Amino acid sequence: MSSVIGSAQGRHLAGRVATMLQPDLRKDYPRLLRGEGVEVIDSSGHRLLDAAAGVGVLALGYSVPEIVDAMSAQAYRLPYVHAMQFTTDVVTEFAAELASVCPNEISDFFVCCGGSEAMESALKIARQYHVERGQGTRYQFIGRWQSFHGNTLATQAVGGHLARRRRHLPLLLPFPHIEPPNCYRCGSMENHADCGIRFAEYLRVAIERAGPESVAGFVMETIGGSTMGAVVPPDNYLRRVREICDEYGVLLILDEVFTAIGRSGTNLALDHWNVVPDLVVMGKGVAAGFVPIGVVGIREGVARAFEQGSGLLEHNFTFASDPIVCAAGAAAIRLMAERDIASHARQAGSWLRDALVPLMDTSDIVGDVRGKGLLIGIEFVQDRDSKTPFPAEARLSRRLTEKAYENGLIVYPGTGTVDGLIGDHVTLCPPLIITEEQTAEIASRLADSIRAVEADLGVS
Ligand SMILES: Cc1ncc(COP(=O)(O)O)c(C=O)c1O
Repeated sequence: MSSVIGSAQGRHLAGRVATMLQPDLRKDYPRLLRGEGVEVIDSSGHRLLDAAAGVGVLALGYSVPEIVDAMSAQAYRLPYVHAMQFTTDVVTEFAAELASVCPNEISDFFVCCGGSEAMESALKIARQYHVERGQGTRYQFIGRWQSFHGNTLATQAVGGHLARRRRHLPLLLPFPHIEPPNCYRCGSMENHADCGIRFAEYLRVAIERAGPESVAGFVMETIGGSTMGAVVPPDNYLRRVREICDEYGVLLILDEVFTAIGRSGTNLALDHWNVVPDLVVMGKGVAAGFVPIGVVGIREGVARAFEQGSGLLEHNFTFASDPIVCAAGAAAIRLMAERDIASHARQAGSWLRDALVPLMDTSDIVGDVRGKGLLIGIEFVQDRDSKTPFPAEARLSRRLTEKAYENGLIVYPGTGTVDGLIGDHVTLCPPLIITEEQTAEIASRLADSIRAVEADLGVS
């Protein structure tokens, strides 16, 4: 059986069925038919509560007529303009909406079609910024182990997920990486209050080792998202990172692809620590999942360096500033503001965490429940005292995801939680409109699924 959606009705080409590649070529993927509110219905009529919002994308759920209407009106009026030659009102309108959810200092935006494109764009903008200022020696980007910034070659080079990098390694630029703070696995014998500072100081060491005159930027997810399972940094970490970047003239690039907008209980996760980056990258839920989107928000000083220098940004895509993307994005941000979605995510996040924390008492394999707002990670271990992960062959997070599906729940599985190769977690990142009753339902279906996995593995 082919692994691909649509293959059953696929056209036969010289005896082969036309296929659309998906990551697991041997898997028979469930076929989803339609979405309603925070649920999807599959081809066997099975209703699923989507606690992954697609993959942190459907911020306002599946049924948002206002966004569909805005997209459709734009498609009738003017579906496309070439951003190298023209602009149009909806582009300016979207820039104003984006500015309303970003720190005041973020003044300019570049809009494209995904998080990887946006991260890749941010790296090129950062590099060109230094060239514009006569510092062409700066080309290196320091990243963090266990991070994910996309699947293009440059974003994988700066990303730090071993399993995702290793096949492509010969193609990746050898950028330096530092360890991220991870309170659950820190192992510090020292005062934990200092961990944020200690881990931030690794950045200084990496800059010095690389040669400060060669470093263009430091790249990090404000909250470690899909690869670590919602790891929140210690409170003093980000501010010290900002100070070190300033000291060395290194641009701070915050990847908020997962956290923008509202997901962590504030518009951007950086709002929790009041730190302004030089570039902030958004994606996934910015247009509430109705269009493929990526956005780079650019600090005023960075944008002005281009104006005062060559005046040229040497970078563009065919679908940059696409009018339908901008229409969907502007409508989504307006709705999020009207519904005060960030505050709701904060409240709903605490309902969900309160419902999940008791799992630590009822299950021996739940090691940690963490996160902020409606970005919550649950890490699984064989032994809670030693925090020993399950071997990869146990397929723990996959197995749990399959059980959850049987129980009418979609979760986002993650592997390599500990070091990029071993470890399991699931991320819960439901639509930001989720109700208290639905958060209880998520926790209850997840608890049933964990019990079923424990029974399968004989660990209960
Ligand atoms: C933090 C982060 N950055 C970048 C990306 C890449 O985004 P995309 O898959 O839209 O290219 C992702 C996607 O999961 C992400 O979580």
